Amino acid sequence: MADKKLILAYSGGLDTSVAIKWLMDRGYEVICYMGDLGQGGDAEDGKKRALRIGAKKCIVEDLQEEFVSDYIFPALKAGALYQRKYNLATALSRPIIAERMLKVAKSEKAEFVAHGCTGKGNDQVRFEVTFHLKMPGVKVIAPVREWELKTRESEIDYAKKHNIPIAQTKKKIYSIDKNLWGISVEGGDLEDPAKEPKDNAYITIARAEDAPARPEYVTVSFNKGIPVAVNGKKLDPIGLILKLNAFGAKHGVGRIDMVEDRLVGIKSREVYEAPASDILHVAHTALEDLVLDRETIKYKYGVADKYSDLVYNGLWFTPLKEAFDAFIDKTQKRVTGDIKIKLYKGRAVAVSRKSPFSRYSLKLATYGKEDIFDQSLAKGFIDLWAMPYRSK
Ligand code: ARG
Repeated sequence: MADKKLILAYSGGLDTSVAIKWLMDRGYEVICYMGDLGQGGDAEDGKKRALRIGAKKCIVEDLQEEFVSDYIFPALKAGALYQRKYNLATALSRPIIAERMLKVAKSEKAEFVAHGCTGKGNDQVRFEVTFHLKMPGVKVIAPVREWELKTRESEIDYAKKHNIPIAQTKKKIYSIDKNLWGISVEGGDLEDPAKEPKDNAYITIARAEDAPARPEYVTVSFNKGIPVAVNGKKLDPIGLILKLNAFGAKHGVGRIDMVEDRLVGIKSREVYEAPASDILHVAHTALEDLVLDRETIKYKYGVADKYSDLVYNGLWFTPLKEAFDAFIDKTQKRVTGDIKIKLYKGRAVAVSRKSPFSRYSLKLATYGKEDIFDQSLAKGFIDLWAMPYRSK
């Protein structure tokens, strides 16, 4: 009866494993799609599980390179931090997966696509907006939003009843999404924003208390806004992020604990781990401070906020986001140079900056004898500056 072909965004986790069976029972032929974005775990294992549950196929693709070059680095160049804190690791991953799924839908001649997101979150929006924009007319099924399995416990019971192999136990507390750019954790006792996260809410980053007693320095080199080397050693983009993740995690850098505003109107408490991202945003901003003129710097803050909103709200493939990328790339022409970051007890701080395009002028800034700034001009400048506001 399987005449309704469907591509399911599959993670190997509980929701999407149960979704395979649920969809099959409703007459769909399910093809699972797994994108490797650096989440770790065993894709082969997930694939086996999908096939055992009854998926017709499970397609696994390594999307890491494209994820870094076309999603992570543009967001870094934009300075995109949602509500000034969250680096959008999860938000950036949805449009790339959704777009790849549609390619598979085309080649498999599938009319349906599905995801395992709930009706309360942002991810459903990110998937579905991309589906609609990139393949008008595609039919979207959202099992988790529709089914009667309202709790994790009932999903586990359903899985047991239908012999769906799952790794989860009822004890598991957090909902975790992981990729190269960061880890997003929510649920469990994090739902009380008055409570400090327990240590087990963080997976890779050391507690600042336990971080080394001595600081460590890392120098990040940028070429036109893109990080290309660490401590003088050229690295491929994935290797560079992995390296900085390790540096940061060791020093307790990159833990974020915040309350954020979801698109659907819910405030939500989340913790994030993003060591490389923290280091890179600090370094990138420090370099921009050195090489960009002040009007561009300040205008770009506004762009960063708006850009983050677009990404967070699922509007990656939209004209405004594209136009921002063009603007941002123009500003990055000068963003080349080396920034030294000091890592110490949970903090990443820029302590040295160098660039062939530096706008810093020692002769203007110095209070020493090299000073060439004509202080006599300041009086007239201030008179004119204040003039419009004087009463007479
Ligand atoms: N709140 C973040 C976002 O909307 C992360 C959501 C991640 N999902 C999860 N299962 N933890 O992008």
